[in-house]
Amino acid sequence: METNEDFKTLDILARENSADKKFHLHDYTTTYDRVLTPLRYKEIKLFELGIARGRSHKMWAEYFPKGEIYGIDLFVRKHLHEIPRVHLEVCDQTDREQLENYGKKNGPFDVVIDDGCHHSEWTIQSFEVFWPTVKPGGVYFVEDTFFSYHKDLPECYTPPTVMGYFLDLANRICKPGLEQKGSYYAGYDRRSGPKSIEVLSEWHKTVESISFQMGLIMLTKRGV
Ligand SMILES: C[S@@+](CC[C@H](N)C(=O)[O-])C[C@H]1O[C@@H](n2cnc3c(N)ncnc32)[C@H](O)[C@@H]1O
Repeated sequence: METNEDFKTLDILARENSADKKFHLHDYTTTYDRVLTPLRYKEIKLFELGIARGRSHKMWAEYFPKGEIYGIDLFVRKHLHEIPRVHLEVCDQTDREQLENYGKKNGPFDVVIDDGCHHSEWTIQSFEVFWPTVKPGGVYFVEDTFFSYHKDLPECYTPPTVMGYFLDLANRICKPGLEQKGSYYAGYDRRSGPKSIEVLSEWHKTVESISFQMGLIMLTKRGV
């Protein structure tokens, strides 16, 4: 257990590692710290797509002292292979087969973060491949979703955008009780609770929640 003297918040670690998730840039660290604190001293597995200079992977390895940190990119700098508990591999986010093989070999994960190419098609594909590798009770993040609104980036702006896809998913998991049964109360059973979930596909049932904030989407997976 860490003492107060060496306790560092995720934002401090982001700043020390020059990771752009820090408060004064994207400010994802506030959310990550709040959501991931309960996992901090556990033997978790975190997988982040997109390595670049390895800044966030180093940050995660320091934040989770017992965690195993995984990452993929088109290229991995040699020296990054020397960081303890960090496992980095070359893998192309556009290649579904490569992603599926990677997930089978390295999953399941407690936390998955997509900070890869950010193109809609590949971000959506990555989610569809890696969501099944998230453990029950685990969490999946998609970063930099503001690209969906960027007219100059057709690969992000052309529908279905990342925001469009996940807003549609939110609609799918929130409305079926109304759509199928015609009234709000018809979706509920006074003795057994919400019935509306029964009309969802098995896949959609696994999505417990989706939340949106500036630049970041978070999905939690229903526990067992
Ligand atoms: C924003 S950077 C990642 C930054 C890193 N997560 C951090 O916070 O320090 C995005 C990375 O996605 C990688 N990338 C782009 N296209 C990719 C693809 N098709 N497959 C895998 N990685 C890709 C880029 O090489 C780049 O390193």
